[in-house]
Amino acid sequence: MLWWGPAVDNVVLGVCGSVAAYRAADLARELMRRGCTVRVCLTESAEKFVTRALFEALTGQPCLIGAFEEPESGRMAHIDWARQAGLLLIAPATANTIARLAAGVADDMLTTIASAYTGRMLIAPAMNPSMYASPALREALATLASRGAEIVEPAEGDVACGEQGQGKLASVERIAGVASVVLSASHALSGKKVLITSGPTREPIDSVRFVSNRSSGKMGSALARAALMMGADVTVVSGPSSAPLPIGATIVRVETAEEMLKGALARVKDADLVIGAAAVADYRPASPEKGKIRREAGRIELEMVANPDIIAALASAAKKGARVVGFAAEPGPDGEAARVKLARKGLFAIAVNDVSAPGIGFDADENELTLVRADGGEERSGRRSKLACALWLLEWLGG
Ligand code: C5P
Repeated sequence: MLWWGPAVDNVVLGVCGSVAAYRAADLARELMRRGCTVRVCLTESAEKFVTRALFEALTGQPCLIGAFEEPESGRMAHIDWARQAGLLLIAPATANTIARLAAGVADDMLTTIASAYTGRMLIAPAMNPSMYASPALREALATLASRGAEIVEPAEGDVACGEQGQGKLASVERIAGVASVVLSASHALSGKKVLITSGPTREPIDSVRFVSNRSSGKMGSALARAALMMGADVTVVSGPSSAPLPIGATIVRVETAEEMLKGALARVKDADLVIGAAAVADYRPASPEKGKIRREAGRIELEMVANPDIIAALASAAKKGARVVGFAAEPGPDGEAARVKLARKGLFAIAVNDVSAPGIGFDADENELTLVRADGGEERSGRRSKLACALWLLEWLGG
């Protein structure tokens, strides 16, 4: 079936000149098996590995290569494809194309489509491990991630050049799985304002030291990306974290719990949904030293005072009807402690993650949530990527 008219399951699959280009053929078929209509755009170097005829035969759709091609005359293919796609997936994505996308260069059909495209984007890099580790590539990927692109990290293993390391195109199942997650996002938060607290806080001991925790900010970042995908207007009040936050969100950077409280309170009145994903330090040093505490002291005692409970303060200040939701890291799957917390803080719901389970929670890429609602309901996400957990949670909260 030919595309006409935008549809969420329309995928433009961009294929770059990597040895892994041949795997894009399986990927196209897998996406079609999952109900997508797939159109392929090759870069000129991809054409050295695979052909237009291969993809046209597999997809039953036209395949583009050159910047001036126009399979349907008068329709300006780059604009037409960009408008109709529900997902732009670039797999394999080479260092060259990633750098050009980050810089906004539009000098072939694929980068021209990308620059005209405003929707959901997924990038699956494949290259030599040293290229993948290069600072220029890392910066370009971080730039794309901060603009909202999802990156499907390459796998570790043998790459075509004989080296070992991270650079092998992720498996077809994994790329198609992430594509399905991204495509499954509804627009349930369209027109809604979402406020998220994210990351750890840092509480100064003196002018060079602080008390903090292991929060990576990855869950907050996934929530921000998921909320944007679902059409929300997103503000993130974030403590110091290296997890890239999407450029489409308004980002307020803070360090301490008190700054986080102030930053979030200033914005809570507008919010329809407030999510406390930050790991706020419960205590802070009572009187941080000006300057540096010297070692000669031998032994020191640090007096700590309680920090404000930010999510509880946001729950009391939020507008009527707003849903305020907390997170709780618990050392087991016990919903009872969460229920007590939920009532004490005046929340609509609390998302519990079991931090005792290996591979989920703090700093991990996966999570498993139990959503405990004030109305007594309880739902489980099952183990998924943080992005999939975030979408799952927001679908429950936005409905
Ligand atoms: O009480 P506990 O720290 O376990 O509760 C976790 C929830 O409360 C999270 O949503 C967290 O962001 C929020 N919280 C907060 N301010 C604090 C402590 C926790 O907003 N001082």
